[in-house]
Amino acid sequence: MRRPAALTAGALAGALALTGCSGSGSGSGSEKAELSVSSPYMPQPVSADMAAGFLTITNKGGAGDKLTSVTSDVAGQVTMHSTTGGAMAEKSSFAIPAHGRLVFRSGGNHLMFEELKRAPKQGQKVTVKLTFATSGPLTVEMPVRPATYNPSTGH
Ligand code: CU
Repeated sequence: MRRPAALTAGALAGALALTGCSGSGSGSGSEKAELSVSSPYMPQPVSADMAAGFLTITNKGGAGDKLTSVTSDVAGQVTMHSTTGGAMAEKSSFAIPAHGRLVFRSGGNHLMFEELKRAPKQGQKVTVKLTFATSGPLTVEMPVRPATYNPSTGH
């Protein structure tokens, strides 16, 4: 059963290479991470000195990257946390796989905004800067939603 598996992998690699070439005029686009951010939001914090934030980072490129730090105009510091089995752990970086996504969502990975300089209120936006291991930084305007906001229902 080894032979069919090898053939399938070869065919898949060929298809991916073709897709990469047609997607970019530069010809080198498939070799780099191509990052974009979607669905950013911050639930209006109930605490005066701490808030959470969520977003999705999509990588359309053929190379992986890493989210290495997050900063914001409203917070003295922003930390990145994972949640596994209900336990939260601070992480120094998060991998963003090639042709994959890094998802921060309620109950899972999340950003924690600490040492708040002002209390973010529903309807406002906070500025969040994302720094990566190889790609250039991205700046995101993160809207502040109601404290109980659920992205799957939109309210
Ligand atoms: Cu946390």
